[in-house]
Order: sequence, then structure tokens, then C-alpha cells
Amino acid sequence: MAEKLLLFVFGFCLTLGSVRALVCKCNVCQGGNLTCITDPEGACYTNVQRRDGREIYEYGCFGEEQLQPKGNPFRCHINQKRAHLEAIMCCYENMCNRDLANEPHLAPPPPDEGLPLLVQRTIARQIQLQEIIGKGRFGEVWKGRWRCENVAVKIFSSREERSWFREAEIYQTVMLRHENILGFIAADNKDNGTWTQLWLVTDYHEKGSLFDYLNHSKVDIPGMVKFAFSIASGLSHLHMDIMGTQGKPAIAHRDLKSKNILVKSNGTCCIADLGLAVKHDPINDTVDIAPNNRVGTKRYMAPEVLDEIININHFDSFKQADVYSLGLVLWEIGRRTTVGGLCEEYKLPYIDMVPSDPSVEDMKKVVCCERRRPEIPNRWHSHEALRVLVRLMKETWFHNGTARLTALRIKKTLASLMTREDIKI
Ligand SMILES: Nc1ncnc2c1ncn2[C@@H]1O[C@H](COP(=O)(O)OP(=O)(O)OP(=O)(O)O)[C@@H](O)[C@H]1O
Ligand SMILES: *[C@@H]1O[C@H](CO)[C@@H](O)[C@H](O)[C@H]1NC(C)=O
Ligand SMILES: *[C@@H]1O[C@H](CO)[C@@H](O)[C@H](O)[C@H]1NC(C)=O
Ligand SMILES: *[C@@H]1O[C@H](CO)[C@@H](O)[C@H](O)[C@H]1NC(C)=O
Ligand SMILES: *[C@@H]1O[C@H](CO)[C@@H](O)[C@H](O)[C@H]1NC(C)=O
Ligand SMILES: *[C@@H]1O[C@H](CO)[C@@H](O)[C@H](O)[C@H]1NC(C)=O
Ligand SMILES: *[C@@H]1O[C@H](CO)[C@@H](O)[C@H](O)[C@H]1NC(C)=O
Ligand SMILES: [Mg+2]
Repeated sequence: MAEKLLLFVFGFCLTLGSVRALVCKCNVCQGGNLTCITDPEGACYTNVQRRDGREIYEYGCFGEEQLQPKGNPFRCHINQKRAHLEAIMCCYENMCNRDLANEPHLAPPPPDEGLPLLVQRTIARQIQLQEIIGKGRFGEVWKGRWRCENVAVKIFSSREERSWFREAEIYQTVMLRHENILGFIAADNKDNGTWTQLWLVTDYHEKGSLFDYLNHSKVDIPGMVKFAFSIASGLSHLHMDIMGTQGKPAIAHRDLKSKNILVKSNGTCCIADLGLAVKHDPINDTVDIAPNNRVGTKRYMAPEVLDEIININHFDSFKQADVYSLGLVLWEIGRRTTVGGLCEEYKLPYIDMVPSDPSVEDMKKVVCCERRRPEIPNRWHSHEALRVLVRLMKETWFHNGTARLTALRIKKTLASLMTREDIKI
């Protein structure tokens, strides 16, 4: 009743004059006001967002400056790509956003968005394991079938529960999905009373890891650019802090290497193995878990990681260390890139400078003390696309992490390479 009276008084006063202000329902207003008043030529709005499976409604006022361009403001549009996550409705009468007829509706979620736990479990229990395709530090990787589709199943032993949990947690970070990040399907723990198996189900890529691929196949220049660009895109998505409800925290990988990158059937790559990743806490610019400062694969560790002088209180340091590892991967790709049919044989980075299973001390001597980096064959200077790759590599290898390029810069440089006529990609 009080609200109605208020409305009447406001409505009366505000329509005086040539421009009109509105009274709108509000649940986000200062002091818990249940109404707000727009500027002249403002609008009432209702916004609905899906967050953690719940629908959250927001009611309020838009002022004139929020309603650009006039007559067709962006703020009042539904972004079709995100229609399952956010919808909005603007209206132009007093308290019109209280009216159910003006309520926006979310589109149903697309089939591949973050699956509820129960569905994940159901999927995992319908998978038939077929053959083992790899063994890593934390468990075995199997090829499996789920309803006529191939999936990959990484099986952790119960001793590795923390790795399993962490990897599943990182994969389920909101808005992480990206075509250059391995697609997560489900996590499940199967317990038969005496034995627990921890499963992580992801997309299966029959071409396997980039390491295996480069060891057995060559790439041409367009293939090289596709590999490099897609990996840089995946890493830059991982690294990006996207604010807001559609946002994601920045994530650093900490174990980037050619074995942890998979080759998709169309010749692009995706980044896998997120079990050692750390997330950015943007409020105090720290990482979300206590990082043990030296994890990952010794061969690919940045100098500051080997020396244990990385500033673990500053999230950018972890991104800089990833970029260093990315540079080594670019070098591996470069060796297998053919020009006129020729290329180098496959080699792991630093293979000629350290023993086959190098210790931290072996790596430190070469990378930190002698400051050596993988050798650039002369051949690479003879083709513009390879010259660009060399420049990028060198700028990922700086001893000082702050001097290194960002993944986003690398991605952009490779994107512009793709559009260059003179390179004939
Ligand atoms: N989704 C997948 N599709 C196809 N093959 C995969 C997939 N995931 C992993 N593999 C294969 O399984 C192998 C083992 O992977 P895993 O991550 O367990 O170990 P790794 O990367 O070789 O070593 P590390 O333990 O150091 O990460 C990979 O090298 C790759 O060949
Ligand atoms: C409601 O908003 C008005 C201004 O719009 C403000 O002056 C008033 O203090 C608010 N009321 C409360 C209870 O905060
Ligand atoms: C549980 O699984 C393990 C490993 O597959 C097996 O060795 C064991 O016999 C099983 N136990 C029971 C009670 O089924
Ligand atoms: C490349 O593949 C061959 C044959 O499968 C294998 O013997 C070799 O170890 C691989 N190369 C490296 C660097 O691991
Ligand atoms: C590769 O496939 C993805 C879908 O998985 C698609 O979005 C992308 O454009 C393709 N890229 C190329 C270069 O064909
Ligand atoms: C910030 O750091 C403190 C102490 O290190 C921690 O307790 C807190 O959870 C962190 N995150 C936020 C969002 O404050
Ligand atoms: C790296 O460079 C920055 C900026 O030039 C400097 O502040 C920092 O001390 C350097 N770090 C190391 C480890 O040399
Ligand atoms: Mg791996």
C-alpha cells in the first residue's frame, strides 16, 4: 500500500516537464530502497542471470547515459550467445519491471555446459574402457566409449586423490571452456569397498599429444601457424582475468609442454593436464592455493622456477613462467616445420645440453648459469613465418620474466601472421 502511494506521488511529480523520469522496482539500491528513480529518459530493467545453477533476478534503474545508443541501447539487448546465462528486459513505464509480462527469460542451457554432478556420474558409469593410451605421473589414460563416442578417461589411484580433485576443480572453473582447452566431461569416484578409482573424463583426441605428433609427423607453414596460434589462444584464455558474472579467474598452467598439448583432428591444438594449475585471487592478487614453488616438468621450467626465486605472491610471475614454457613448445614445432620439404628431426628442448632425465641442478646449470637456450637453426631465417616464430620464441625466453611477451601478445602476432598475403598461408 505504501509502495503504491509512493509510486503515485513520484509518478505525478516526475512526469511534469517535457522529459520523464521513472520509478522502478529495485533490489540493488542503496540503503535497501525498494524503488529507484531514473534520470529523465531512463528505463526500468530486470536482469536475470544463471549462476551456479540458480537464477538470480536484479531489478533497477538505467539512467540516460546507460542507454546508448539512444532508441536501441546495447544494455537492453540479449546477447544470443549467452542467452542461457543472462537475459534482460528494459521497459519505460513506472514500475513496469514489477510486471511479470516484462520479465526476461533465460534460454535453456546448451547441452555441453557444466554438467551437474549427477549427470557426470551417470555418464562416467556408462563408459566402457577400451585400451590404455598413456601413462603419466598421476595415473593412466584410457580410451573409452560412451554411447558411440570416444572419450578419454584419466584414472588416478586413491593416493592421487588430491591431483584428481584439483584437476576436476580447475576444469570446472566457470567459463573455462574454450576450443583450445581440453573439453571436460565428467569426474567420478568409483568405490567398490576396498578400492577407489578416481576418473576424469574428457574429450578424446585420436592424434594424441603434440609431442607424439611432432615425433612422427612434419607440419607445413600453415600447419605450424595453426598449432602455434591455437596453443597461444588456449594459453591466453587460461591466463585471462575476465571480470563480472560472465567472468573467469586467471589461471596459470605450471606444466605446459608438448606432452600436455593434444592435437585435434582439424589440426588445431588444445591444452590439457590442468592438475597443477593455480587460479588468481584478484582481490589480493595472490594464488588460490599455497603453491609449492617448484612443480611441473624440470626440462620446461623457467629460470626463476629452477632458481626458486619466483615471486609466488604475484600472480603474473606464474603467467611469465608459462610463457617461457610456451616458447620451448614453439621451438619444438619450429623444428618440424617444413620449407621446401625440409625440416629438422624431432627433439626435446635442451636434449643436447642436459642428460635424458635431467635433474634440477642439470637444468639450472644450462638455463640459469650459462643462460643457454635451444639453438635456432639457420634454415629458420629463410622464411618469414619462421622468422616471426623465432622472434616470438626469443621474447618468451628472457631470463627476466617481466620482459617476456604475454600469451595474448603472442596470439595477436600469430593472428596477424595468418592474414599476411606475402606469406601465403
Ligand atoms: N584426451 C586425450 N586424448 C587422447 N590422448 C590423450 C588424452 N589425454 C592424454 N592422452 C595421451 O595420454 C598420454 C599420457 O597423458 P598424461 O597426461 O597422463 O601423461 P604425460 O603428459 O605423458 O606426462 P605427465 O604426467 O608429465 O603429464 C599423453 O601423452 C597422450 O598421449
Ligand atoms: C532511498 O534513496 C534516496 C535517493 O534515491 C535516498 O535519499 C534515501 O536515503 C534512500 N533511502 C534509504 C532508506 O536508504
Ligand atoms: C575392487 O576393485 C579392485 C581393482 O579392480 C579389485 O582388485 C577388487 O577385487 C575389487 N573388490 C571388490 C570387493 O569387488
Ligand atoms: C619418437 O618415437 C620413437 C618411435 O615411437 C620413439 O622410440 C622415440 O623415443 C620418440 N622420441 C622421443 C624424443 O621420445
Ligand atoms: C577446428 O575445429 C573447431 C571446432 O572444434 C572450430 O571452431 C575451428 O574453427 C576449427 N579450426 C580450423 C582452423 O579448422
Ligand atoms: C586473501 O588473502 C587472505 C590471507 O592471505 C585470505 O585469507 C583470503 O581468503 C584471500 N582472499 C580474499 C578474497 O580475501
Ligand atoms: C626483472 O626486471 C624488473 C624490471 O626491469 C626488475 O624490477 C626486476 O628486479 C628484475 N628481476 C630479476 C629477477 O632480475
Ligand atoms: Mg600430461
